[in-house]
Amino acid sequence: MEERVQRPKILILAGGWSREREVSLKSGEGVYGCIPKDLYEVTLCDPKEDMALLFSHLKDVDLVINLLHGQKGEDGSMQGFLEILGVRYLGSRVTASAVAMDKYISKLIYQKAGLLVPKAVPVFEREDLNEERIKGLGLPLIVKPINEGSSVGLSLCEDLSSAMKALKEGLEMGMRMLAEEYIQGRELTCCVIGNRELMALPIIEIIPLHSKVFDYTSKYEAGKTMEICPADIDEDVAKMVKDTAITSHKALGLRTWSRTDMILKEGKIYILETNTLPGMTPNSLFPLAAKAMGWDMTQLVLKLIKLGLED
Ligand SMILES: Nc1ncnc2c1ncn2[C@@H]1O[C@H](COP(=O)(O)OP(=O)(O)O)[C@@H](O)[C@H]1O
Ligand SMILES: [Mg+2]
Repeated sequence: MEERVQRPKILILAGGWSREREVSLKSGEGVYGCIPKDLYEVTLCDPKEDMALLFSHLKDVDLVINLLHGQKGEDGSMQGFLEILGVRYLGSRVTASAVAMDKYISKLIYQKAGLLVPKAVPVFEREDLNEERIKGLGLPLIVKPINEGSSVGLSLCEDLSSAMKALKEGLEMGMRMLAEEYIQGRELTCCVIGNRELMALPIIEIIPLHSKVFDYTSKYEAGKTMEICPADIDEDVAKMVKDTAITSHKALGLRTWSRTDMILKEGKIYILETNTLPGMTPNSLFPLAAKAMGWDMTQLVLKLIKLGLED
C-alpha cells in the first residue's frame, strides 16, 4: 500500500487586533491562497475571531506564519506568546520585533549603527507639547505615532499650529507621538530575505500620485501610487540603499525577512523605518520586489517557509 507522506503543518495568523487588521486579513488570504496544499497542510486563523482554533493548532504545528501587522502581532507580543509555547514561527523574535516597531527606539539604534535618520522629537505626554521643542525641525514637518503602521495617524503639517493639533489628537487617542523633520526626496523601499546569509531584493521606488506622502489611501487604493521596481537609480546608489537595508536589518537583530523604508535626498539615504512583518497582499511591495527577481508569490512564500523551517 502506498504510504502517505505527512505534510508539514502550517498555521497562518492574520487579522488580529490592530488598526492594520484589514490589511493583515488580505495578507493572510494572499499567502494562504498560494501555498500548494499537496506540500503543506495549511490553516488560516484570525486569533481575534477564533482563539480556540489558534490553541487547537499550536500543539503540533510545524511553522506559524505570523502576518498580524501592527500592535500585538508585530510588536513582540505574539512572538512572546509563541516563544513560551515553544512554537516555531517565521520572522523576528520578541525584542527585535518590539524595537523595530518603536519608531523612536529604532531611530537610536540606526544612529548607533552609523545610519542617517530624519531629526525627531518624541511627544509622549502632554508636558511634551511645546512649540519650542519642535520648532527646530523646520517646516513642513511629519507627525506620526511611534508604534503604528500603514501610515495610520500620520500627517504632513505645513505649520506649527497644525503640528501641535495633530500631536495633541494623537496623545488624546492614547498614542505616543513623534514630530519628525520632513525629508523631501525620492522614496525607496528595500526588502531583505535570509537567515545567516542576507539578500537584498531589487529596490522599489514609490511615487504617490495624489499626495505628498505614502499615506493609507496611497498604500491600499488602486491607481494612487506608482511603484517602480527595480528603481531607476545609479548602480552605486542602489548598492548603498541595499547595504543600508541589510545594515538596518542586522542592527535591529531581525530574522528571515524585513522591508526598510528610506528617502534618498541629495545622495544621502535617510531611514524612516524597518517593517518586520511586511505586507503580503497581492499588491504589496515585498511580492513586487520578489517578482523583479523572477519569483511569483508561491515561490516567494515557499522560500520564506524554507527559511522559517531551517532556523
Ligand atoms: N520624515 C519623513 N519625511 C518625509 N516623508 C515621510 C517621513 N516620515 C514618513 N513619511 C511618509 O509617510 C509614509 C509612512 O511613514 P513610515 O515612517 O514609513 O510609517 P508607516 O509605519 O506608517 O509606514 C512614508 O512612506 C513616507 O511617504
Ligand atoms: Mg512605512
